[in-house]
Amino acid sequence: MKKMEDYVRSIPDFPEPGIIFRDVTSVLQDADGLHMAIDKMQELLADTEFDVLAGAESRGFIFGMPIAYNLHKPFVLVRKKGKLPCETVEKEYDLEYGKATIEMHKDAIKPGQKVVLVDDLIATGGTMEAAAKLVEELGGEVVKIIFLMELAGLKGRERLKEYDVESVICYE
Ligand code: PRP
Ligand code: ADE
Repeated sequence: MKKMEDYVRSIPDFPEPGIIFRDVTSVLQDADGLHMAIDKMQELLADTEFDVLAGAESRGFIFGMPIAYNLHKPFVLVRKKGKLPCETVEKEYDLEYGKATIEMHKDAIKPGQKVVLVDDLIATGGTMEAAAKLVEELGGEVVKIIFLMELAGLKGRERLKEYDVESVICYE
């Protein structure tokens, strides 16, 4: 029986020297890998009550949407700047390689809603920290943040220490 990590392909020196890229395409290209990833991420929410699932562009969409569908919850998009058509809130953040700005629609979260954030991977934690701050700016409460993969060496968890963070696979 294959384990979840057996489905993840690791590519050294992509997109820059020194980075080991944990590739989700090898998970998604395998029907068993895809099922296992969604099932295991969903299991992380077994004891969590929440109103909305929010996923970070683009890989967070892939893993978040099936979970929202399965649990009959709304799915909210946390998008890279310039993609959302209505009024937004935005935040700039640092990545393992580079900088980016994310946005959410102002009406995506209603004040008081309990929100779960989802992404494929936590590296520095910059993306999810920015997403969590946007949810809070809109009056939401971040009750959990889930990932398929965690790159523990980059200490993203420390950046998210005020939140309940769980991942399926942890790379040291
Ligand atoms: C990757 C990944 C996470 C983020 C993790 O996304 O999918 O969202 O980086 O890094 P961090 O913890 O240091 O913030 P990327 O911005 O490369 O976009 P993509 O999903 O569209 O490929
Ligand atoms: N996003 C940020 N760092 C990454 C890595 N090492 N592998 C895959 N996606 C990433």
